[in-house]
Amino acid sequence: MEVVIVEDAAAGGETVAQSIAQLLRAKPDALLGVATGSTPGPVYRALTAKARAGEVDVSAARIAQLDEYVGLPAGHPESYRSVVLREVVAPLGLAEDAFMGPDGSAEDVRAACLAYDRALAEAGGVDLQLLGIGTDGHIGFNEPCSSLASRTRIKTLTEQTRVDNARFFDGDITQVPRHVITQGIGTILEARHLVLLATGENKADAVALAVEGPVASVVPASALQLHPHATVVVDEAAASKLKLADYFRATYAAKPDWQGL
Ligand code: GLP
Repeated sequence: MEVVIVEDAAAGGETVAQSIAQLLRAKPDALLGVATGSTPGPVYRALTAKARAGEVDVSAARIAQLDEYVGLPAGHPESYRSVVLREVVAPLGLAEDAFMGPDGSAEDVRAACLAYDRALAEAGGVDLQLLGIGTDGHIGFNEPCSSLASRTRIKTLTEQTRVDNARFFDGDITQVPRHVITQGIGTILEARHLVLLATGENKADAVALAVEGPVASVVPASALQLHPHATVVVDEAAASKLKLADYFRATYAAKPDWQGL
């Protein structure tokens, strides 16, 4: 995989937004897989700025959600559907029907998972999937020891992830749902381009294991090593435990500008 080391979170956002803009210029109706959490915010802001400045036409873009909490009432502000509509779909000026996601409040959650997996394929597959990484190495909500071949399904969150995500629920872990729907690792690997963005020192261990460790389900993000077009964009802090950091810097510096990520 390609590892791109940038100075800080803002530079990471700009780098990934440029890549998305490049994709949309080549394929205006690209299906963009988006992640939630704090990390991708700079990407969405940078892409919105490019769209407003007329640098890229995003009007035909389609947006697909990566994962969702189970059991939050429909319209809950911290459901990932609400987050994606608020942070991506609305700022880009897209209509809600440009958006697809799993139904976390469905009565039959298993059927909702299967339906979403099918819907992604029927939509032609994800062109670029943006991913964050959990401190335990998860992608989407695929917690450690998720099957590397898994499909969209229900998962139980680890205590660590519930602690990490409590900040979105007034710091109250009891409000963080225990169950989630997530695109499986096998589903994620079907996207044409995977872009994992990680910023901050608290991600350094997970990034080093994912990039330089063995492919292992105990570090779900290591599955990116199996993908023919996977890019990991990290700021200096998140790159601080990479043994090959200098090699990654030299490789990226030698790459022609036009090539993108
Ligand atoms: C959640 C999401 C992931 C995200 C992770 C890291 O668990 N399901 O998709 O990558 O949080 O979030 P953050 O970027 O806030 O650290």
